[in-house]
Amino acid sequence: MSSTRGYAYFQGDFVPFEDANVSVMTHALSYGTGVFEGIRGYWNPSHEKLYVVKLREHFLRFIQNTRMMSIVVPHSVEELCNITLELLRLDGFREDTYIRPLAYKSSLQIGVSMEGVSDGLTIFAAPFGNYVDIDRGLAVCVSSWRRTSDNAIPPRAKVTGNYANTALIKNEAVVNGYDEAIVLTEQGYVAEGSAENLFLVRDGQLVTPSVADNILEGITRRAVSELAERELGIPTVSRTVARSELYVAEEIFLTGTGAQIAPVTSVDRRTVGNGDVGPIASRLQQLYLDVVRGKHPDYADWLTPLELARPAVVNA
Ligand SMILES: Cc1ncc(COP(=O)(O)O)c(C=O)c1O
Repeated sequence: MSSTRGYAYFQGDFVPFEDANVSVMTHALSYGTGVFEGIRGYWNPSHEKLYVVKLREHFLRFIQNTRMMSIVVPHSVEELCNITLELLRLDGFREDTYIRPLAYKSSLQIGVSMEGVSDGLTIFAAPFGNYVDIDRGLAVCVSSWRRTSDNAIPPRAKVTGNYANTALIKNEAVVNGYDEAIVLTEQGYVAEGSAENLFLVRDGQLVTPSVADNILEGITRRAVSELAERELGIPTVSRTVARSELYVAEEIFLTGTGAQIAPVTSVDRRTVGNGDVGPIASRLQQLYLDVVRGKHPDYADWLTPLELARPAVVNA
């Protein structure tokens, strides 16, 4: 995602995106003391609406996580939702969009203490397509890096500093010719993808690593479990997952706001199942993409619909 278009909510105002800048001395820039979210809006051209997915849930998680980092956000969840919708109206992107709220330690100082340090808030959005290929099946590796642990930097907090770990994991995978990586806990159990949660199919059941295994408690993870249960009658078991289960699973897929539902067809060059995208991943992906684009009325409560003005026609 890269954007120089549109607006940003920055220090309490909507400003042109290029004016939303921080000093090089900002606490969060040196020390990783920010908390962020990633939210998607899906454009449905026949409805002429942008459907923002699980908006309230993302801001609930955001506020919980800012507390963990002692960052004060001067808005309620409802206010943050309304600011975001106003931003999207101003931006007017009539296409799939990614929204990035970021709260951060904003004082200009050298020294890591967060005591007395002021807090900043920005929200910006950019047109955004697929984060990873979701059609052909990903070739993933098990990373040589380990996930940061709950008692180091809690991965569930979506702290910017934690994404140095994510960057090491993802980059190692890419330079070695893989699409993505799966990361293990210090104890050697499966945590998640670099920036996605992970599901396996074992004996026809869905299995996903437990929330105590250093994962981000994904909003898509929960949504996918709900879809699997309601639409396919398949329950999800959340438990500790051994690395070797990756090599014997019938199917594996990654979930996330960015990744959506991304099937995995090999792990460490060993094929998953018969090497094709699995039927459960494929069915869940189709259902998910229909739901988020507003095509499944049973799940309307996942979405905040937004009408965006048509761009003015300028006569030559
Ligand atoms: C480390 C990590 N795990 C999992 C996820 C998926 O979370 P969600 O479904 O809430 O986007 C993300 C994406 O934001 C992530 O960064």
